[in-house]
Amino acid sequence: MALPPAFLDELRARTPLPGLIGRKTRLARNGRQWKGCCPFHNEKTPSFYVYDDHFHCFGCGAHGDAITFLMRAEGASFPEAVERLAGEAGLEVPKPTPQAAERERRARDLYGVLAAAEAAFRRRLMLPEGRPALDYLRRRGLTDATIARFGLGWSGEGRGALAADLKAEGITPDQLVAAGLMKPRDPDRPEAGLVDLFFNRVIFPIRDRRGRTISFGGRILGDGQPKYVNGPETDLFHKRRNLYGLDLAREGAFRGAPVLVVEGYMDVIALHQAGFAGAVAPLGTALTAEQLEALWGVSPEPVLCFDGDAAGARAAAKTAELALPLLAPEQSLRIAMLTGGEDPDTLVAKGGPAAFQAVLDAAKPLSAALYDLLAGSPPPVTPEQRAAFRHRLEAAARGIPDKALASEYRRVLLDRFFVEGRPPRGGGGGARPAGPRPAWTPRGRPGELVSIAGLQRIAIDPASVRLERARNLLAILLRHPMLLPEVEEPFATLDLPEGDAVLLRHALLAWLPGADLLDSTALMDHLRERGLESVLAWATRSAGLSQAAQPEAQPKDAMDGWWHFFGLLRGEAELIEDRAEAQRVLVETNDPLAQQRLIRLQEALNALRGGEADETAQPGTIG
Ligand code: UTP
Ligand code: MN
Repeated sequence: MALPPAFLDELRARTPLPGLIGRKTRLARNGRQWKGCCPFHNEKTPSFYVYDDHFHCFGCGAHGDAITFLMRAEGASFPEAVERLAGEAGLEVPKPTPQAAERERRARDLYGVLAAAEAAFRRRLMLPEGRPALDYLRRRGLTDATIARFGLGWSGEGRGALAADLKAEGITPDQLVAAGLMKPRDPDRPEAGLVDLFFNRVIFPIRDRRGRTISFGGRILGDGQPKYVNGPETDLFHKRRNLYGLDLAREGAFRGAPVLVVEGYMDVIALHQAGFAGAVAPLGTALTAEQLEALWGVSPEPVLCFDGDAAGARAAAKTAELALPLLAPEQSLRIAMLTGGEDPDTLVAKGGPAAFQAVLDAAKPLSAALYDLLAGSPPPVTPEQRAAFRHRLEAAARGIPDKALASEYRRVLLDRFFVEGRPPRGGGGGARPAGPRPAWTPRGRPGELVSIAGLQRIAIDPASVRLERARNLLAILLRHPMLLPEVEEPFATLDLPEGDAVLLRHALLAWLPGADLLDSTALMDHLRERGLESVLAWATRSAGLSQAAQPEAQPKDAMDGWWHFFGLLRGEAELIEDRAEAQRVLVETNDPLAQQRLIRLQEALNALRGGEADETAQPGTIG
């Protein structure tokens, strides 16, 4: 038996094609799509393209979706391919029951019912009874082409008008209920009959990603409550999964338009008319995880637009929280804030496309927006507030499952935390001048969150070597905790191997603010009480530990050793940047601590350049 189309759609939507195909042939990003050598014929120069929902080879003509790919690449049958993809996507393949067959037939019919209803609504808009609605839309600046493109219509005044229109096409009232167009007047008394859901309203067809109408929204003409009504959940319409305008935005994104999420139907329409072909909106609710996944199917970095008021900031914070556990290197976000009480529709009406473009240009990468949102307002100033803030930043980074991305976030967020925590610079005191290059600005293309330099560095050093260096770095601090205040910032923001090293750092930094005496014995006792006995044993195992990590090392040697290992772990490119930043701080503040930092960074850089090949010759021995 054929599987329900809705299930197959869901399966395709939940199977990212580049991931699937990338297991068979190496793919590289090529603008909006991916490109590689065709797995189905022998070629040296790539002519095989992967789009968000299909692949195509310009060499041999191979073409299809995720299911056909598995069938061709692995000789799987259709049911086998579906079964495997469903397993990976966490979906259950529906069992072929008579009820399922019936549901499927009804769903097929339901699309027809909705298409017929849309046509009836559109017809009415052009009749004399639809004139006030048509005038209303034109007054709001919509052209006739836009009205047609979005399929806008007029509901009629209700009282069964739609049912009467559609009766001629053999559509029954029961089907109108299933389509979400009519409902019982009184759910407890079926005999009371049915009423229309939409009457005296401008109609906005809601379409799925493939452009099929699945429900409607209706707006009252002028003022009145409720301003909008939306169709109920049906077999075809799932508010949490669909986005208004996604069918058009897919096309727009394919041609290079940024994908934008705004709040309302009218915003989407006005933006498309103004040339922003990637605009979509959720369906009267806050953005959901399913909708984020759908967006990432179309663009690696959609821009979310929020109102500039307190409610907008709350919505942005909630969305950021929702997105964190879903982030991956090809799945990020940017956040744009509107101001002055405008929504995209009114902004474009007043200032034209340029006004909205300016909002987009000011969109922040999620990491930067997240920082602001977690800081809140007024920003934290007391040590207690700042410590709590730092915990929020660290917790946010920990919420990202992709390890490399999580540590990039951690570094970007904490770098900025420390930069902003420095005493005011410049002559006259007062507020900190806006620095020319905030340390948290991501490098590379705008919005790029992953520091390529950092990742490459990690890739070059074997994990075991990095771990041993991290162990030395930690052991030096365990034995010489009086170094902690001076190195706190670089220590806190350094990329360390996940696991024991990160755990121990966390414990050390947590101990510092409350410690009366920076004494090694007190510190170790404290950590043991915290249940970190085994981590301590790992960190202080003497084989492989540098001289600097011995209890009897002189403070100066301990410090030199610490910076040595820091330099090795941090990497040359980052050290050079750190040094430039320290130089800038020194010039601005003339702070002796900044001078000290500059000297240390230079030493670390020297150690790295001179001694990396021969680590054993440096302050201690690695065994
Ligand atoms: P807004 O109140 O911001 O509406 O609601 P809007 O898009 O600016 O509408 P116009 O410009 O006055 O026509 C934003 C979205 O919230 C949902 C709708 O999806 C709307 O587009 N909404 C709003 C409802 O579902 N019901 C309502 O009563 C109001
Ligand atoms: Mn509006």
